[in-house]
Amino acid sequence: MTTAPTTASGPRSGQMDPMDHADQMDFRHVMSHLPTGVVAVTGVDPASARPVGLIVGTFASLSLEPPLVAFSIARTSSSWPGVRRGGRFSASVLAEGQDAVCRSLSRKSGDKFADVPWHPSPDGAPRVNGAVAWIDCEPEQELDGGDHLIVIARVRRMSTGPGEPLVFHKGRLGSYRDTVAA
Ligand SMILES: Cc1cc2nc3c(=O)[nH]c(=O)nc-3n(C[C@H](O)[C@H](O)[C@H](O)COP(=O)(O)O)c2cc1C
Repeated sequence: MTTAPTTASGPRSGQMDPMDHADQMDFRHVMSHLPTGVVAVTGVDPASARPVGLIVGTFASLSLEPPLVAFSIARTSSSWPGVRRGGRFSASVLAEGQDAVCRSLSRKSGDKFADVPWHPSPDGAPRVNGAVAWIDCEPEQELDGGDHLIVIARVRRMSTGPGEPLVFHKGRLGSYRDTVAA
């Protein structure tokens, strides 16, 4: 697989994507070997006054001073624009056993929150009940990330709950113990 160098200055507009379909499958396969956490990014869309959100596996801490997190969002996401419109949002780090919550919030259609128990953060954003950590954030910047946006958000407050995190590894949801066994 050959990949053209990317620049930090913005989209490679006008250039051909150097990855064909087989390369993309390889890329997904190789990256599936990197276990990630499963994080629900949720807010309230002021346009509907309803909770909106999606699951991300790309959530990471970015900076301590100031406290920043980063994650990537597919440009095709229909939920992110609503979360961003709402401003303050919550990131809930899902716990082992919250597979159903992950499936609900990663659906493309339907009422994603119908079977997701949540409580409001002090900013009013949904925090998923039973998560192992909650990070309340405010979007700061969106950068170009190819077919994704790189979202940088400022951390406003945080708290933790008991339990172990849900892990996504090789296309499967599980726990630390499962990923060690896989
Ligand atoms: C484990 C897991 C990790 C995911 N990580 C991301 C991610 O980092 N960024 C993203 O845009 N979508 C990610 N997705 C897919 C979105 O959750 C899903 O496409 C989204 O909910 C689509 O709904 P929307 O169009 O309403 O945003 C992930 C899904 C799963 C199950």
